[in-house]
Amino acid sequence: MATEKVGNGTGVAYDKKEEDDVRPDDLSELLAAGTKDIHEKAENNQFVKDFLRGRIRKELFKLGAVALYFTYTALEEEIEKNKDHPQFAPLYFPTELHRHEALARDLEYFYGPDWQNVVSCSPAAQHYVDRIHEVGQSDPVLLVAHSYTRYMGDLSGGQVLKKVAQRALKLPATGEGLEFYHFEGIHSAKAFKQLYRSRMNELDLDAATKEKIVQEAVHAFHFNIEVFEEMEEIGKTLKDEVMDAGMPAHGAMDGDINK
Ligand code: HEM
Repeated sequence: MATEKVGNGTGVAYDKKEEDDVRPDDLSELLAAGTKDIHEKAENNQFVKDFLRGRIRKELFKLGAVALYFTYTALEEEIEKNKDHPQFAPLYFPTELHRHEALARDLEYFYGPDWQNVVSCSPAAQHYVDRIHEVGQSDPVLLVAHSYTRYMGDLSGGQVLKKVAQRALKLPATGEGLEFYHFEGIHSAKAFKQLYRSRMNELDLDAATKEKIVQEAVHAFHFNIEVFEEMEEIGKTLKDEVMDAGMPAHGAMDGDINK
């Protein structure tokens, strides 16, 4: 197999599979193919489309960060508990990926030092959180699906979303409030995603388990869409202070958007 060495920003070198060296029963391929339709549905969600165009109110952006905080807290709690599980351990990258602390700093920026007493988990985020705890406790291999859906998605689009939010909400260029989007330990998202895919493909899984993981990833997308729909509903109740500072409405999806 052709490989090349890639640095991951933490001084560790690893083998990277050539991009054309893929097999149809690789978990990474099954996940990409199996979530294609639901990914498209997520992209076409109104809240997501509005966000990409910079049509996002600060109140709603803050509530989105709160939902992410509870989601990642649950995910990373279950990952920590299962970090030695043989069917998850190769995907354990706390320094590079984990978002809990970054989100806590973002919430402190938005809600002040008392933020923990001010924020609460919304019903849709709670639904997602409950499922993450359930799989972490009863079927930890399914954490692969939840990690894939969030971290690979974040690594794919984070920079674009960060710029949109920074501009629309007039957040400081120093990155306060947007730490969630900044992966300090990852210098090349593309190279890291390749590593993550090859780690997923090296997991010792039979065909039925791979299928179960793909189904769980589809569920994970649904949980995210539920959160977006909830945000959209809350948005309708907030007073109008829409900002038009996002991506151009035409061609937003076909430019250099790296997600
Ligand atoms: C990957 C676009 C929303 C999860 C990608 C890629 C694009 C993209 C172009 C491919 C990147 C690459 O080949 O390296 C978008 C756009 C979105 C959006 C335009 C919204 C407007 C989401 C959401 C989720 C998500 C809401 C889930 C919560 C993922 C995942 C991947 C991905 C898991 C990795 C796919 C793979 O390589 O297997 N996205 N995305 N995306 N996205 Fe999104």
